[in-house]
Amino acid sequence: MPATRPACAAVAIAWFQLASIPGAWALDPPSKAPNFGSVANTRHNLTQSFLGTGAGWMDLSRNDYAEVCVYCHTPHGANTRTQAPLWNRTQRDTAYTTYDQLGTSSLTQTVTAPGSNSLTCLSCHDGRTAVDSIINMPGSGHYDSGQQSGQSNGFLDSWADGPGASPFGGHGTLDNSPAALAQFGACQSCHSINGDQHDPSTMAAFDVFYIATDLRNDHPVGVRFPADNPDFRGGATELGAVSFFDTDADGRPDAGEIRMYDTGDGYEVECASCHDPHGVPSSGPGSTFNPTFLRVANSGSALCLSCHMK
Ligand code: HEC
Ligand code: HEC
Ligand code: HEC
Ligand code: HEC
Ligand code: HEC
Repeated sequence: MPATRPACAAVAIAWFQLASIPGAWALDPPSKAPNFGSVANTRHNLTQSFLGTGAGWMDLSRNDYAEVCVYCHTPHGANTRTQAPLWNRTQRDTAYTTYDQLGTSSLTQTVTAPGSNSLTCLSCHDGRTAVDSIINMPGSGHYDSGQQSGQSNGFLDSWADGPGASPFGGHGTLDNSPAALAQFGACQSCHSINGDQHDPSTMAAFDVFYIATDLRNDHPVGVRFPADNPDFRGGATELGAVSFFDTDADGRPDAGEIRMYDTGDGYEVECASCHDPHGVPSSGPGSTFNPTFLRVANSGSALCLSCHMK
């Protein structure tokens, strides 16, 4: 990688095209995030400050708000369309193809549309909304309530005046077409989707990251956890809108405990049943986080066996 930032977007594209070896990586190369202690040390730190000077590359394609939490949370003006804590992200009305539409005959439960505890994740991972599309950017006067349900590139571009603003302009100059900015197009100029790895030695691929809107090939979400069914573990503790397997018997749904969420259709499995987006220590405070933000590491299929009696 060149030691300095490209002077303009065109230079960046040319450099990455030169380094391109299509198809060289089908899998995700290891993250440069150290993955312990805090979400700031994970891939969910979208300032990418853990990359040091390398983080400047992303200024071509997303706003650097210079704050870790703000890509997802805000202390004020949060999104009331999503039942998630102080949620700062745009929540579009998106239609998902759900697992039941695969047509297997073995499902016993009804699958409903993904609930809030999946829509949070899908607001980035379905590739329909820019990762920096938030309602309340840092500092006063950077608020747009319309951002709750739709992405305004004009509003996001106004960050050009904010602290940590991109030297290349606002919300991304690499590809300013609405279609590209609304999806992961701007990211794909450097990172790959579908195996076309632009710089195999250094670049993280987005193949695994891009879940899209067809959920038929993903573990069902928005699916009720069956009570009193011998194929499923029993004894979950119910606490308001959450039910959880209280492995340490402290009466609280801890980050490392599998949980189900009731957002109106009973206790259901959602993305956050299995994943905690902040990272979960593998063996006590300060230890390396479980891989892929899992609440329970899946060695020996421990995660699956938390729910399935197989
Ligand atoms: C101009 C090229 C470029 C563009 C465009 C770009 N990135 Fe990056 N990205 C990099 C470079 C270089 C790195 C550092 C090498 C690495 O870690 O893959 C990086 C690293 C990352 C990482 C850390 C990977 C890890 O775990 O180490 C994430 C997450 C990331 N980028 C997300 C994004 C997102 C989201 C977008 C689109 C909004 C984007 N990038 C667009 C160049 C780019
Ligand atoms: C990539 C997105 C993302 C980032 C970045 C993020 N969070 Fe969260 N956070 C979430 C989601 C999603 C939930 C809801 C999880 C669920 O459905 O149970 C949440 C929940 C929470 C909760 C509620 C209780 C809990 O632990 O689940 C707190 C408190 C919280 N976050 C604090 C923070 C703080 C502080 C930061 C920054 C240091 C931060 N988060 C960064 C996505 C994020
Ligand atoms: C603000 C946008 C955003 C939100 C919200 C978000 N993610 Fe991510 N997530 C990312 C980015 C960017 C990456 C890095 C992709 C890469 O490096 O390939 C990532 C990576 C991941 C990874 C791969 C981690 C690894 O080490 O390989 C998992 C798993 C993941 N996210 C799950 C979730 C889940 C589950 C939620 C909801 C609880 C969520 N994400 C919410 C943006 C987001
Ligand atoms: C039943 C548990 C479960 C649910 C529900 C679940 N995941 Fe995962 N997820 C996993 C496991 C286990 C892995 C690790 C797979 C691996 O190592 O190949 C994973 C991996 C991922 C990855 C990284 C892909 C990879 O292969 O490394 C992303 C991104 C992700 N999940 C996002 C989501 C999103 C978004 C949702 C909701 C739509 C979701 N997950 C729901 C268990 C789950
Ligand atoms: C949070 C609890 C939970 C966890 C953890 C979990 N599952 Fe599930 N799983 C469910 C529920 C609930 C269903 C829906 C069952 C039904 O409708 O009969 C389901 C459905 C499935 C199905 C589809 C069955 C069908 O008939 O089509 C498979 C396969 C499956 N899970 C495998 C796994 C694997 C593999 C893992 C670990 C990576 C895992 N599950 C983790 C709760 C869970």
